[in-house]
Amino acid sequence: MIEVKNLTKIYQISKKEQKKNKTKKDEVKAVENVSFTVNPGEIYALLGPNGAGKTTALRCISTLIKPTNGEINVNGFSDSEKVRENISFLTNELKLEDHFSADFTMNFFGGLRNMTSEEIDERKNYLFDILGIKGFKNKKIADLSTGMKQKLGIAVSLIHDPDVIIFDEPTNGLDVLTAKIITDYLMDMKRKNKTIIISTHVMRVAEKLSDKIGVLIGGHLVMEGTLEKILLETNTESLDDAFFKLYEIHGEQDG
Ligand SMILES: Nc1ncnc2c1ncn2[C@@H]1O[C@H](COP(=O)(O)OP(=O)(O)O)[C@@H](O)[C@H]1O
Ligand SMILES: [Mg+2]
Repeated sequence: MIEVKNLTKIYQISKKEQKKNKTKKDEVKAVENVSFTVNPGEIYALLGPNGAGKTTALRCISTLIKPTNGEINVNGFSDSEKVRENISFLTNELKLEDHFSADFTMNFFGGLRNMTSEEIDERKNYLFDILGIKGFKNKKIADLSTGMKQKLGIAVSLIHDPDVIIFDEPTNGLDVLTAKIITDYLMDMKRKNKTIIISTHVMRVAEKLSDKIGVLIGGHLVMEGTLEKILLETNTESLDDAFFKLYEIHGEQDG
């Protein structure tokens, strides 16, 4: 279970950064007073445009960065070491070592998780099979396509079979076949009672995959609930329309 209570993250902008980005603002409120819960067996989608604060929220949950305010519990833990044992975190900013093979990469990360080589082999077989990695497992990462790298990134993040899965834009930039392998896998994990949160800026992904959608605009969670609830509350017939309606109301506030 993931519990987020009144999460706020303010980035301080250094003088150097201000100069570089031609701004006088010395801070950015990336996420403000956001609360939600994700239960086991549920996929929660944080849906929002670029800059809405999705990555920031997921990084806070994953303990990669410290919230400015608020409380986060993952499977009852808030201590970062415990949280990290319980989660899989996927981000497109993760860099895999170019001269490693997929196979070696898995051994390496399994070792970091203190897994035995038997445990690693068993897990590797399962994940390589389900994600379609077997065919290129001995190739250098430098020679892999974006989709192949993404699949390997997912396998690496899941090596320890965690209860909680946190995927930042998991299908971004992927061809439809690779995207489907990943969304099918997430559905399978949902059936296995994992707690899953993803971020996306693609309505269709949120619509198809999630049990609950949290609409994040300008760092604020402006609406959340099932698709049906969101359509009802916005008096619309598609998530697209609901989103644009919410954006009209909340989009320009923070400039
Ligand atoms: N490390 C950082 N330092 C300063 N500002 C940041 C940093 N990371 C993100 N931001 C700003 O915070 C806001 C939210 O960014 P982000 O969480 O990446 O949004 P999203 O993932 O929804 O596109 C944006 O205005 C972005 O420019
Ligand atoms: Mg992002």
